[in-house]
Amino acid sequence: MNIRNFCIIAHIDHGKSTLADRMLMGTGAMDDRTRQDQALDSMDLERERGITIKASAVSVDHVYKGENYELNFIDTPGHVDFHYEVSRALAACEGAILVIDATQGVEAQTVANLYKAVDADLEIIPVVNKIDLPSAQPEERALQVEQVLGLSAEDCIFTSAKSGEGVKELLDAICERFPEPRGVVGEPLQALIFDAKYDDYRGVIIYFRVVNGTMRKGDRIRMMKIGRTFYVTELGKFRPEMTPTQEPFEAGDVGYMVAAIKTLEDVHIGDTITLDTRPAEKALPGYQEPAPMVYCDFYATGDTQFDDLRDAITKLHVNDASFTFDPTSSEALGSGFRCGFLGMLHMDIIQERLEREGDVSLVQTAPTVTYEIAMRSGEVIHITNPADLPDPSLINQIREPMVKAEIILPTKSIGDIMKLCDQRRGVYKGQKFLSDDRQILDYELPLAEIIYDFFDKLKSITSGYGTMDYQVDEFNADQLVKMDILVNGAQVDALSVIVHRSKAEIRGRALLKKLKEEIDRHMFEIPLQAVIGGKVIARENIKAMRKNVTAKCYGGDVTRKRKLLEKQKKGKERMKRIGTVDIPQEAFMAVLDTG
Ligand code: GTP
Repeated sequence: MNIRNFCIIAHIDHGKSTLADRMLMGTGAMDDRTRQDQALDSMDLERERGITIKASAVSVDHVYKGENYELNFIDTPGHVDFHYEVSRALAACEGAILVIDATQGVEAQTVANLYKAVDADLEIIPVVNKIDLPSAQPEERALQVEQVLGLSAEDCIFTSAKSGEGVKELLDAICERFPEPRGVVGEPLQALIFDAKYDDYRGVIIYFRVVNGTMRKGDRIRMMKIGRTFYVTELGKFRPEMTPTQEPFEAGDVGYMVAAIKTLEDVHIGDTITLDTRPAEKALPGYQEPAPMVYCDFYATGDTQFDDLRDAITKLHVNDASFTFDPTSSEALGSGFRCGFLGMLHMDIIQERLEREGDVSLVQTAPTVTYEIAMRSGEVIHITNPADLPDPSLINQIREPMVKAEIILPTKSIGDIMKLCDQRRGVYKGQKFLSDDRQILDYELPLAEIIYDFFDKLKSITSGYGTMDYQVDEFNADQLVKMDILVNGAQVDALSVIVHRSKAEIRGRALLKKLKEEIDRHMFEIPLQAVIGGKVIARENIKAMRKNVTAKCYGGDVTRKRKLLEKQKKGKERMKRIGTVDIPQEAFMAVLDTG
């Protein structure tokens, strides 16, 4: 059997998932009757948001020059937060299809993902997609592929994932140009775990690729990292549903495995599976653990208990090992988990998946970055929670993470984007020409200044045409201070933030204003204060009054009144009482709107 293993990579929205659908249809794995859009985006959340969050694998058959080929492909997410998913997918493949939108051309993640594929030593087929659109410029884009990406324009395949045009040529090119799987069938088994999912009935389902050797149903396998052994009870392929097979899996095969694995800790993404009777000498290199970029706390609220939250987090972690979690406690909020994420979108998605899949209600604190603290004693520590900052008199320097950012944008927006970078304490590093009307700007920026709303600002200034990719670089010292927030005279540790000295007053005032909007009036007056080093830099008051929410409705409209009450009830579920003051979820995130 001929096998080709490849993944689809692209900048966000350039049409990967739609092209994957077309390839499923083009190979008969899905027809008009069974067809559903974005078949591989199987999570509700992915369909609702129209984005790919998790890489997903699928096997299809294609006949090329009279021979049968099994094509195993992995659709990957495009957003910068999910780079880690892309790296994992690449490690299981020999080829990559690089999709480029014929109306947009090369964008920031096109470049970033291409570099990753080249680093992983993959063969690349550039695909110019959406050629059905009137504003498509296929020839210009092919030229750009050559000039900017260094791939040959002649190698480009032109497709419309919408109409199906060019998809057959693409499938043929995959068989023709991508190499056969590397690996030796006769060697001891080495299979790479590239993903996993927890199933309440069957235990952990492992997604894997056999790199060397053979695996059969009934084999006793060993996880090389922890040494635990299991019997394989089911082997199968994604077509695209999980379909069991009796055939052995040989080097190059991609699929899933069930082995009655009930303990989540036994499965590690990136671990190597081998045979217990004839183990491989060495594990495969696996993956580099991704470093979290932003941290926040989750606390159980409503009917959810701490143990429920722990269960939900542990289960989700099997499916997404790229977030970290550690127990923590807050004076104000009690026991919870400090979690680390690859970016803000990742954080949002995990919080939403916990609530949906784990059925828990939680309160989340504002995200922060990691800070490096150089103590006077010479010791260097890292903190991921402003509340953990040691006594300022013991601190020599507070350092923050910096990123190297590459911004691709229309030439006419350069002035405005430079101004924005300036406001965000950015340092200009250079400028490159991309095409007549597009440039690449290089900046060094503090991570804390870009994680919240920088993308939104970039998009709105460039009318959607600006894109950015970034990599975390080193820590840099700056004039950073901790700002504490007092609610009704009591310091709320979960509201503390680390800010730049020059922006402290403005942010303090903005934060209190926002808190004043979010916290309902109580029976008593609630003073709010922002404090730096014991000195009050801003204050506000929430006046006393029993707030009658329905009073706003001036009688009349009953449905509106009911809606308002329901909204208030819902808000209450995600609320924490601190002292005698009820603080809603929104208040903990208030700091995000004050950048
Ligand atoms: P992420 O997974 O979020 O990174 O996005 P993606 O690259 O998978 O893009 P997706 O397939 O979700 O497509 C983005 C949008 O482009 C959708 O609205 C598609 O319907 C549309 N689209 C994709 N391919 C084509 C095409 O060939 N022609 C036209 N006209 N629209 C297309």
